[in-house]
Amino acid sequence: MKTVLVTGGAGYIGSHTLVSLVENNFNVICVDNFIKSNPKALEGVEKIIGKKVKNYNIDLCNLEACKIIFTENKIDAVIHFAALKSVPESVAKPLWYYKNNVESLLNILELCTQNNVQQFVFSSSCSVYGNATELPVTEQTPLMPAQSPYAQTKVIGEQILNDYSKDATMQIIKLRYFNPVGAHKSALIGEWPIDVPNNLVPVIVLTASGKNAALKVFGHTLQTRDGTCIRDYIHVTDIAEAHVCALQYLQNNASIKNEVINLGTGNGVTVLEAITAFENINNLKLNYEFAPPRTGDVVAIFCDNTNAKQKLGWQPQLDLNEMMRSAWAWELGKTH
Ligand code: NAD
Ligand code: WQD
Repeated sequence: MKTVLVTGGAGYIGSHTLVSLVENNFNVICVDNFIKSNPKALEGVEKIIGKKVKNYNIDLCNLEACKIIFTENKIDAVIHFAALKSVPESVAKPLWYYKNNVESLLNILELCTQNNVQQFVFSSSCSVYGNATELPVTEQTPLMPAQSPYAQTKVIGEQILNDYSKDATMQIIKLRYFNPVGAHKSALIGEWPIDVPNNLVPVIVLTASGKNAALKVFGHTLQTRDGTCIRDYIHVTDIAEAHVCALQYLQNNASIKNEVINLGTGNGVTVLEAITAFENINNLKLNYEFAPPRTGDVVAIFCDNTNAKQKLGWQPQLDLNEMMRSAWAWELGKTH
């Protein structure tokens, strides 16, 4: 049984990936200092998988402290989720974002090198495409200037890995996620922002629960089919499953050294379509109002996911309705 170290495993995508890994017979170890997550997320994971998850509550920026993870465990692969991810917060606190996201990556790579880790999966983001020059975006679409310090940390992370891979035996996959939403079907884990959320689905959920008076739809006279922005929303469980596929792909293809793969459904959905789907599947009405476009927002982005399908043998299974149903079910069941 292979042992996978999941950094940021108490976070939104990491927690779902812990479940997928265990369901696919991987042994998992977690490192998360809960700087952006609730420790209860790991309790949710444990309820689903029916066993304890070993977590190291350590800051990945502390190289010395992290060594114990590798002395106590033989790690075969690392999935590196741990990062700060809020775009507006990165604009307000750029140095913190660069330090945390870059230093943690450098440290984990140093530990992987010292401990002969075989495979490495990196959480990248559609934000590396900036204002994309073509739609859908493929992995060959040129990377335009990053629109935030957060996005720039992902561009830098990818560049570090590209340079590292030239003289390393460890196999690397960089997964560029589009817009992960929804929650596990058990409603035991889901997105659990510890700050005021700014992503669309958490704000929809906050509005539906009455904790936010009205959802602001940023921009409604844009050059799209209904005037609102288009994004590629993808179920977090499908994202999690793709990590299992990525590890299996690397294990089965020893010649792969360093790849980048888009993870989205390939379907563009407008903000109004997302709202309507949420309302219909959950049988409720959302209070929303139109507001000016948000600074830095691209009008439309969605991906070509051919590589994910062909190389990873992966296929998104869950549609927009299930994304919206599960997001609300998780909110209703969550213990705050
Ligand atoms: P999240 O904030 O829910 O999870 C990240 C986890 O990393 C948190 O539990 C946090 O406590 C932990 N962490 C951060 N810095 C750490 C450090 N120095 N040491 C130890 N733990 C640390 O985020 P998420 O949505 O699960 O995202 C996971 C990854 O995917 C991130 O790298 C993010 O940038 C990337 N990503 C996310 C999205 C998205 O919309 N959710 C989209 C594209 C890419
Ligand atoms: C989606 C759409 C908003 C909130 C971000 C990061 C990106 C990646 C994915 C990590 C946009 C609109 C939103 C609201 C709204 N994350 N919206 N009212 O901006 O596509 O991408 O998450 O890598 O890097 O930038 O996601 O969920 O914030 O917004 O109208 O209250 O919803 O304008 O069109 P975004 P989002």
